[in-house]
Amino acid sequence: MLKARLDLHRLPRHVAIIMDGNGRWAQRRGLPRTYGHRAGVESLREVVRACAELGIGYLTVYAFSTENWKRPRDEVDILMNLLVEYLHREIDELCANDIRIHPIGRLQELPVSAREALEAACLRTRNNHRLVLNLALNYGGRTELVDAVRTIAQKVARGVLSPGDIDESTIDGHLYTAGQPDPDLLIRPAGDYRVSNFLLWQLSYTEFWMTTVMWPDFRRVHLLQALVDYQRRERRFGGLVRGDRSCSGTGS
Ligand code: IPE
Ligand code: IPE
Ligand code: MG
Repeated sequence: MLKARLDLHRLPRHVAIIMDGNGRWAQRRGLPRTYGHRAGVESLREVVRACAELGIGYLTVYAFSTENWKRPRDEVDILMNLLVEYLHREIDELCANDIRIHPIGRLQELPVSAREALEAACLRTRNNHRLVLNLALNYGGRTELVDAVRTIAQKVARGVLSPGDIDESTIDGHLYTAGQPDPDLLIRPAGDYRVSNFLLWQLSYTEFWMTTVMWPDFRRVHLLQALVDYQRRERRFGGLVRGDRSCSGTGS
């Protein structure tokens, strides 16, 4: 059993997922793309439940990018409706599992119905602590950095921040994910090998796990496989292999 192969003390604190492949999944079955989006909601439900059960503290899912507005109006509308439906349908279980909803992205540009559903979900789950579920909606890694830079620049203009004091923690603290650990593991289903404008700053040292499985087919077993593989990786963060100090400059 895969779960037995997991070291529960070395789980990633933060997992990020690019939920991709819904359209192709549907098209391969001769169905409209939107059927794939609906099927993808089931995968989300299963993965959220599994992360909470395992004790992963943060899960960030890419649900709608700043570039996804380029899609046909019908598809965008269905995605927004699915979001509202998901929040209404899942809210009780999210609360029962102690999960907090935290949307990230330019939320002010979402349709009113989506904004209202998100606000209600945030309010209802605000005191939950087991898992933070970051829903990336109208999210772009570049717009996130633009928004951070704007806020920082305003602080400089008001004289509450000096340019020389801006460091990495200043940028971190102005991202939508402020206060959260960076993702340890990024999962991308559907066989594409790119970041697609997701968490550009936060992914600096994230481990990537790609699969050709389409998101609607992604199940708990795939998550466990990703976690087992993750635990086999050696993360060096620019340093040396653990225990190998022969080349260490400081010897400390
Ligand atoms: C991911 O599936 C969902 C969103 C981007 C909203 P896609 O709709 O991108 O599916 P493919 O990549 O076209 O198969
Ligand atoms: C990334 O998938 C965005 C989401 C999954 C929400 P896309 O399907 O939009 O990305 P590209 O176009 O393949 O890079
Ligand atoms: Mg796609």
